[in-house]
Amino acid sequence: MITGYWISQAIYAAAKFGIADHLKDGPKSVNELAELTSTNRDALYRLLRALASVGIFAEGEARQFSLTPLAEPLRSDVPGSKRALALMSGDEQYRAWSEIAYSIRTGNIAFDKVFGQPIFDYLGENPDKARIFDAAMVGIHGREANAVLTSYDFSSVGIVADIGGGNGSQMTELLRQHPSMQGILFDLPHVIERAKVKMESEQLADRCELVGGSFFESVPSGADIYMMRHIIHDWHEEKALTILRNCHAAMSLESKLLVVESVIPPGNEPFGGKFLDLVMLLIPGGKERTEEEYRTLFRTAGFEVTRVIPTETEVSVIEAVKV
Ligand SMILES: C[S@@+](CC[C@H](N)C(=O)[O-])C[C@H]1O[C@@H](n2cnc3c(N)ncnc32)[C@H](O)[C@@H]1O
Repeated sequence: MITGYWISQAIYAAAKFGIADHLKDGPKSVNELAELTSTNRDALYRLLRALASVGIFAEGEARQFSLTPLAEPLRSDVPGSKRALALMSGDEQYRAWSEIAYSIRTGNIAFDKVFGQPIFDYLGENPDKARIFDAAMVGIHGREANAVLTSYDFSSVGIVADIGGGNGSQMTELLRQHPSMQGILFDLPHVIERAKVKMESEQLADRCELVGGSFFESVPSGADIYMMRHIIHDWHEEKALTILRNCHAAMSLESKLLVVESVIPPGNEPFGGKFLDLVMLLIPGGKERTEEEYRTLFRTAGFEVTRVIPTETEVSVIEAVKV
């Protein structure tokens, strides 16, 4: 555990140099790979040998390397690709984690100390990093899209708004599974510009209104369901309340709010959300919350929690209505 980053940083290097993409058509020698990636042969060999020792890539005859089941998700072009997640975790997130002591001492955001600005401002100024962030969200949360759909009955829902819906991965799944549903995808303008390309390529653009803006100002009205997946956890109390109140203002009395988050259970059992909570502390400055904390937050914003529905993944769907 102490040296866990040895493996995660080695994975980052393999992802950065696109090694898995170069191996998708079959094994290659380390010399070929070094040529293709403009890297040092000996250093690259040592990287791949170390990764092969934990099942990521396999070394065969004459220093040839091939993909293994654990290496496959590092390809860029496979469904559920984890390459962007490896790139994001190994670069900005790793640098922010190096300041964990600062965050624990002060409660302040390590990312802001290292990069001199909040994460979402940084992404707005760095389009290449923003593209990686959007894809990393699919890499880390992708399985949840279907899990939410099997746990919550959307069959009679007319219009769903996904607030902070990123590149539209949850929305795509919703519209595909419910052919009469219409969508509203809302996120920051630069994110929506990229989502537009995705919705067009999925041939869903005519069923989904794409709206750019900030949820600290307002969110679109007119939806039956307002979904926010991994949005509230990004923010501390005051900002989370502003987002919830803006949803409240846009919603009718009949509409429902669905917040999809890792709800922290009591006890000492392993639960990924307890570490995701540290990511929230160090990077955007938010937190994962317990069910009680969500109930209090929602009540303060004028909502009542009606159900907390578990899914087959770690996230739960917290359903709330206006009071
Ligand atoms: C942790 S990501 C979650 C994305 C997506 N809902 C998911 O579950 O994969 C947070 C999202 O909030 C968006 N966001 C951040 N600040 C925002 C703002 N002020 N207004 C609207 N969206 C914002 C980001 O662009 C990003 O897509």
